[in-house]
Parts: sequence; C-alpha cells; structure tokens
Amino acid sequence: MHLLLLGPPGAGKGTQGARIAAKLGVPQLATGDVLRAAVKEGTPQGLAAKGYMDRGDLVPDDVILGIMKEALAKPAAAKGVVLDGVVRTVPQAEGLAKVLAELGRKLDAVLVFNASDEELVRRLGGRTVCDSCQTPYTGRAPGTRCEKCGGTLVRRKDDEPAAILNRLQVFQKQTAPVLQWYRAHEGQGARVLHVDAVGAIDEVTQRALKAIGR
Ligand code: AP5
Repeated sequence: MHLLLLGPPGAGKGTQGARIAAKLGVPQLATGDVLRAAVKEGTPQGLAAKGYMDRGDLVPDDVILGIMKEALAKPAAAKGVVLDGVVRTVPQAEGLAKVLAELGRKLDAVLVFNASDEELVRRLGGRTVCDSCQTPYTGRAPGTRCEKCGGTLVRRKDDEPAAILNRLQVFQKQTAPVLQWYRAHEGQGARVLHVDAVGAIDEVTQRALKAIGR
C-alpha cells in the first residue's frame, strides 16, 4: 500500500506515520527527517536546505523530487511506503504521480490529519525530538534520553514561535492547494481520507487504520 500523509505542522504525521508503517510492514519516508539528517551530516543538500528549514519555509521542489525518486526506487519500498509530508506543493504532487507511474505503482490513499491551530501550536511548543532517530516526544526536557535509541532529545529550531507561525502560514498558502489537487484527481487514483488528529495517540492510530480498512 502506498499512503501519503498530509497535514499541518504538529498534526502528528511523524507519530502516526511510524505506527501505520509498522502495522502495514512497509517503510516510512519522511522528507523532514531525510533533510534534518542531511543538515546534521553537513552534506551539500543539507547545507542548502538548512536556511529554508530553520525559517519554516519549504525546501525547493527539485530537492524534494530528488529525494522521492531515490527513496521510491529502493527495493525496500517496492511493496509500499508511508510518505510522511513528502508532498507539500502541487508540482510535488504531480512529480510523485509521475515517479510512481514510471515504477508501475500508484498512490492508494491520501490521509489528511486535521487539528486546530491552537492545538498545533501547543504541541509544537512542547515538543522535543531525538537528535538521532528523530522520534518526537511531548513533556520531555531537552537533554534527556530517547526511549527508542538512547539518543539525546533536543528542541527543533523550527519549533521556535516565529517559525511555527510561518510554517502554519506556509501550510495554508502552499500545501492546502495540494488537497484540492488530490480531490480533483480522486477518480483516477488515490482516495482522500480525513482523520481527526485530536485525541489520544492510540485513538488517532485506530481512526487512521480504520479509514484505510486495516
Ligand atoms: P517536517 O519535519 O515534516 O515538519 P512539519 O511538516 O512541520 O511537521 P512536524 O514534524 O512538525 O509535525 P508532525 O505532523 O510530524 O507531528 P509530530 O508527529 O511530530 O518538515 C520540516 C521542514 O522540512 C519543513 O518545514 C520544510 O522546510 C522541509 N520539508 C520537508 N518536507 C518538505 C517538502 N515535501 N517540500 C518542501 N520542504 C519540505 O507531532 C507533533 C507533537 O505532537 C509531538 O510532540 C508529538 O508527541 C505530539 N503529538 C502527536 N500526536 C498527538 C496527539 N494525538 N495528542 C497530543 N500530542 C500529540
């Protein structure tokens, strides 16, 4: 199954993406994680992306299309993949459809996670992430250890108030039209399924799995 997770910053794409991918037995591809790893390693791609990411702006489409192409061609993704935040502009949606068609595959569903801006700001303001495996946490201080891999929890630079505000605006301006694009193309491909992202993390996972019939 090929699933795309869409939703504003803090909606829980990363949290739910990991759970849904584990349930389906397919890998999770999160462009945010790929880019943060590149920044950490100081690769040319990471150095080019850092400024956009720190401000909460989108990284240029050609960078994202390159990541998509490379990841989807890997044997591990052949049976399906959970694409977490991989599409945020209409050219990226068109690009993904093309890459998948070239591989003889298609998107099965777009899961859209919804929450109010107040809830998103509250979540992002309280988040720390593992600097190694990137697992997000709530209510854990920077400097504490990651339960999964023992890495150190840090605050993301784009979780500062000005960057959070910008990310919410960028979502409305550049990513909301992607939803219209998928709705307009629903007949030819992926179903668009909305998931209420507010509630206990387990409950949201159950809603998402139910929406995709699992
Ligand atoms: P990315 O890392 O994907 O950031 P984002 O989209 O802003 O999403 P977040 O990771 O902030 O939130 P999330 O929805 O994954 O929520 P999470 O599960 O962590 O991208 C970062 C940057 O990379 C972008 O700004 C851009 O610059 C660049 N980029 C990436 N992809 C790109 C693309 N395709 N095109 C261009 N640029 C791109 O949860 C948030 C918090 O809430 C956590 O603390 C979590 O524990 C908590 N939480 C989760 N679920 C619940 C719940 N049900 N109840 C209470 N708390 C919850």
